[in-house]
Amino acid sequence: MHDPAEFRALHLDRFLAEPDIFAAPGRVNLIGEHTDYAEGFVMPAAIDFATLAAISPRGDGKIVVYSENYGKERVFDAVNLPVEASLHWSDYPMGVVAMLARDGCEIPGFSLSLWGDVPLGSGLSSSAAVEVATALAVVSLNGARYTGAQIARLCQRAENEFVGANSGIMDQFISANGAEDHALLLDCRDLSYRLVPLPANVALVIANTMVKHAVAGGEYSCRRAEVEEACAVIARHRPEVKFLRDATVDDLANWGSEMTANALKRGRHVITENLRTVAAADALERGDMAEVGRLMAEAHWSYSHDFEASCVEADAMVELAQDLPGLLGARLTGGGFGGCTVNLVERSKAPAFAEALAGRYEGRIGIHPQIHICHASGGAHRLEAAAVAGGPVEKKT
Ligand code: GLA
Repeated sequence: MHDPAEFRALHLDRFLAEPDIFAAPGRVNLIGEHTDYAEGFVMPAAIDFATLAAISPRGDGKIVVYSENYGKERVFDAVNLPVEASLHWSDYPMGVVAMLARDGCEIPGFSLSLWGDVPLGSGLSSSAAVEVATALAVVSLNGARYTGAQIARLCQRAENEFVGANSGIMDQFISANGAEDHALLLDCRDLSYRLVPLPANVALVIANTMVKHAVAGGEYSCRRAEVEEACAVIARHRPEVKFLRDATVDDLANWGSEMTANALKRGRHVITENLRTVAAADALERGDMAEVGRLMAEAHWSYSHDFEASCVEADAMVELAQDLPGLLGARLTGGGFGGCTVNLVERSKAPAFAEALAGRYEGRIGIHPQIHICHASGGAHRLEAAAVAGGPVEKKT
């Protein structure tokens, strides 16, 4: 994590103005994949990796966005905001600003510095972290009041309507609403949720296959279209089925023959995944880790075989973890086609687990994976002055 005091100094140095600083985390999803846009259930947790956003007002009507990760700055006019994406890192923050403006929010001039350590393209929601941190920062300038759910919706719209990625609500929602040491069971239909405690002796071990994934890529949209196709076939017979959330395995038995083979498989994954996700939350609440692990394994192979959103490397990472001491459950997390696996591991055994898994993976795949031992962190928030205050910072004249 970037030292917030250093980050403040960096902003002050560049923009000669004292910033407020906000943080928004990335996430892992424990279970419930490609169910959010089918109005189903997901159970993610926020993680220790985050984006920091430092913001200060300016009087010249400009919006200046600086990315510390890219070492680049872009300048916009607050009364003439971009209306479409430019295939640039600034699309994520500016998409949020554009959505706030569409929402009727007055957008003043400001300087925004961004820095993040959520690994990019690894299925850990680096883009949602940027969006949510930006939203909190910009909203703080004009005193507008947004709930965590509204921030999540706004950022999802930025992704859908501005960036052009057809994603659901999960990533932005957990980034805005996560809670320390808890997973969050979200009903994506009405955005009601339940925080589910993670046992203190369990670590989240995130194993990066190092295979890049992109939600903006064609595979994600293609799967989404197949899920919608399965739903449309069922809806011909049962018009009350608006999303696969409303469908059952019996519907697939009855009308699956009218679907393409792919739509049938994708539908089976989503319908069974919803059941598994609710069951996993219940099992976690009872402390039944064996059942949580069993459901995670079932979810992984459903994601791999029926949804066909895994890859050789992710399947290997899950397989190679199975008999390692301390493993409670493992599966590919996030949008699929690469990225990371999430492993629930007894905390005392996590370091040895991580080392052994890295060795096995490198031995089989020939790539050294990054493995992180994390815990479930809190959702997006403003950093307290005490956390930001470093030593005295000299202003440039
Ligand atoms: C990506 C999307 C989410 C969700 C997951 C799959 O992370 O951004 O909305 O659909 O994939 O569960």
